[in-house]
Amino acid sequence: MKITRRSFGVLLSTSIVMARASAADSKPLVLVAGASGATGKQIVAALVKHGYRVRGLTRDPAMAAKAGGPQIEWVKGDVRDAATLPTALKGVGAVMCAVGAREPQGDNSPEKVDYEGVRNLIDASKAAGVAHFVVESSCNVTIPEHNFNKIFNGLLLWKMKAEDHLRASGVAFTIVRPPQLLDEPGGIKGIRIQQGDVGGAGQIARADVAAVMVAALSEPAMRNTTFEIFGAATLPVDGWRKALYLLKPNCFDRATCNLPTRKS
Ligand SMILES: NC(=O)c1ccc[n+]([C@@H]2O[C@H](COP(=O)([O-])OP(=O)(O)OC[C@H]3O[C@@H](n4cnc5c(N)ncnc54)[C@H](OP(=O)(O)O)[C@@H]3O)[C@@H](O)[C@H]2O)c1
Repeated sequence: MKITRRSFGVLLSTSIVMARASAADSKPLVLVAGASGATGKQIVAALVKHGYRVRGLTRDPAMAAKAGGPQIEWVKGDVRDAATLPTALKGVGAVMCAVGAREPQGDNSPEKVDYEGVRNLIDASKAAGVAHFVVESSCNVTIPEHNFNKIFNGLLLWKMKAEDHLRASGVAFTIVRPPQLLDEPGGIKGIRIQQGDVGGAGQIARADVAAVMVAALSEPAMRNTTFEIFGAATLPVDGWRKALYLLKPNCFDRATCNLPTRKS
């Protein structure tokens, strides 16, 4: 067969498309719970950018699809209703969980969503054979007396219970604990990583939280770890990727990290 300039061009573009398709095929299908939320949208965008196939869990797919962002497959589900989760998890290799209660009281409270709902999703993920569960928790979850527990109906306590359930589940996990979340561009500041919930106020861009959560899927050093992240203008932007290699498993509060306990 004579290869003309045109047929060479067609062959080249076909092989590029095939190479891209096989790269995407080799990555797991990822379910993002809370994909319609402010961090969830950033997680979806980061996953799509890295070639993952993404399914978004929401209580209202029509509303979520209208809300813009990358066009992904939406599935209807409510983490409070365990019966809605097996269908959402069909064929899923990894879960990113960024659900959260917006109201302190009522039937979608922190207890119902951040604890019972996340627990349902962990159990359903285990039953579905999900290989890795990544969750957005919060810094200060190990401080029962924290003011957020008073004003937000035990939010941090419920999040800590969900973390404990995940650590005990047998599913490989990554627990990411940010401080106050900001809707500003990511990749501008560095990210300080620490363990032991040793406190300190701070802020971080939701896009940076998403970058860290998505990195957990391909970075073995992040498996079975719990850690806090803070935006840090004085650190090099990508320095956190090296800091990941210092993460210790089974280190999630001062006691387990062999640090002085909070009360001492
Ligand atoms: N805000 C902060 O400064 C801060 C700080 C530290 C940690 N966090 C934590 O970070 C996470 C993300 O926060 P965010 O402010 O980015 O989120 P957000 O915009 O408030 O979005 C919350 C998401 O949770 C989903 N959701 C709520 N109830 C649900 C239910 N019953 N079943 C299924 N999905 C449900 C919503 O989905 P649908 O409505 O589409 O169903 C929505 O996508 C939360 O866990 C939050 O506690 C927040």
